[in-house]
Amino acid sequence: MRKVVCEKEDIDPGDMKSDSLGIIPIVVCRTKDGEFYAFANRCLHQGAPLSEGALRGDNKRTTVHGNYEYIKEGEILRCPWHGLEYDVKNGGCMLADPEQKLRNFEVTIEENNVVVYK
Ligand code: FES
Repeated sequence: MRKVVCEKEDIDPGDMKSDSLGIIPIVVCRTKDGEFYAFANRCLHQGAPLSEGALRGDNKRTTVHGNYEYIKEGEILRCPWHGLEYDVKNGGCMLADPEQKLRNFEVTIEENNVVVYK
């Protein structure tokens, strides 16, 4: 199955867009570096629509006591309901269990269109 979601410029870097692939709700994320990723638009916890969450970064503790660095700006998809965070580069649930992953779909750019495949 193939779905043209929108034109490439319709999703700004660091933003996302919801759509559907057949009966499957999907969310297409565009990272700050311009890469596109598509996932089932349902949180693994209680099914919240992830497209209503936020694409952001996260604070990671450094080896220096009390210091944090902001990492992965625009690469972390945060659930709107209870805050689970997913790494959009691989769909893994960052804190709870990185081995639990969102269902992902192939995304290509074809003639300036964002196309998702199942
Ligand atoms: S539904 Fe996403 S964290 Fe609870």
